[in-house]
Amino acid sequence: MDFLDVIFSRKSVRSFQDKTISNDILQQILEAGRLAPSWQNKQCWHFIVIKNKEKRKQLALQSGLIGTVNFFIKDAPIIIVACASPIKSGMMNNQNYYLVDTAIAFQQMMLTAWNFGIGSCWLGAFNEGKVKKNLAIPEEMKVVAISPFGYPKNKDGFYAKAVKTFAKSKKRKELSEIISYEKWS
Ligand SMILES: Cc1cc2nc3c(=O)[nH]c(=O)nc-3n(C[C@H](O)[C@H](O)[C@H](O)COP(=O)(O)O)c2cc1C
Repeated sequence: MDFLDVIFSRKSVRSFQDKTISNDILQQILEAGRLAPSWQNKQCWHFIVIKNKEKRKQLALQSGLIGTVNFFIKDAPIIIVACASPIKSGMMNNQNYYLVDTAIAFQQMMLTAWNFGIGSCWLGAFNEGKVKKNLAIPEEMKVVAISPFGYPKNKDGFYAKAVKTFAKSKKRKELSEIISYEKWS
């Protein structure tokens, strides 16, 4: 796909086909994350790739993703859990750069996936304590995000429709609302 097509057509995907992702494509998705920029190039991130069906279900169920919210992730052939070490990144102006580093890397993975026709969905709603216990993530690490990766179904499921409506997912602010030139206005 053309680069701008990837950016302009990307959307969150919450309904997945029962179709595996080839290892070659997975490697390219992971590589796109590996090459991301980071605070002093510290690369504070660690990504856990979960393919096992039972483990995916367990993560969706036992991680306590707020009841059945985000339970849809069990249907994706791959779930990636994005972790980061705050002490390996930096902090300035009261901003924790581990979040920035890991968000950039994960988004690079998600966009690369989209380039191959694979959908994903950034998940912020999860129980970090349960996810860490479930996946034996060390105490000092943070779980920044979770995302399913899979080929989209042609039709959205009930949950996908509900979230899209609730979040008004298609709506974006106008450029004039979010951009000013030369100074804040
Ligand atoms: C930080 C963050 C947290 C999010 N958490 C969730 C979530 O827990 N569950 C979910 O279904 N979508 C989640 N989303 C996806 C947003 O709802 C979605 O990006 C937004 O509605 C815009 O839709 P689009 O991605 O299709 O353009 C999250 C997105 C971000 C960036």
